Amino acid sequence: MNISPQIWVLNGPNLNLLGEREPDTYGHETLESIEHKCISIADGLNLNIEFKQSNHEGELVAWIQEARKSVDGLAINAGAYTHTSVALHDALKLLTIPIIEVHLSNIYTREEFRHHSFISPLAKGIICGFGANSYVLAIQALRLLMDEK
Ligand code: DQA
Repeated sequence: MNISPQIWVLNGPNLNLLGEREPDTYGHETLESIEHKCISIADGLNLNIEFKQSNHEGELVAWIQEARKSVDGLAINAGAYTHTSVALHDALKLLTIPIIEVHLSNIYTREEFRHHSFISPLAKGIICGFGANSYVLAIQALRLLMDEK
């Protein structure tokens, strides 16, 4: 039996408000609409996908720990925790699966405090600046990385 790889897409604080939150920066799509797009892309690539969002750092840490057991690839948009969270950094360090860091906006063209990421050193790659399509590109990147293995 050919079992499809499992990927998780984790989303951090305030991403539940996409659509109404700073649309000039983050676009008009809701997180739900991005999730639907990701499910359809993942289906076409023969990937099982689970999409999660939390405003709580500890919940994100718990999911990352859980991902060690049954997940083959992780895409993460940690929102503001990208720039602050040693806890997320430490949790991601325990993973051996490919990690892709995702941002809707290009964090390097924005405020200086967004230029540092605690996620980047643990990511295979970073995709930022393509709006909702950053997620699509991240899923495609995970598929490519899995095919290379
Ligand atoms: C973000 C960029 C972060 O700097 C910000 O705090 C977010 C969203 C993005 O997707 O562009 O919440 O991760």
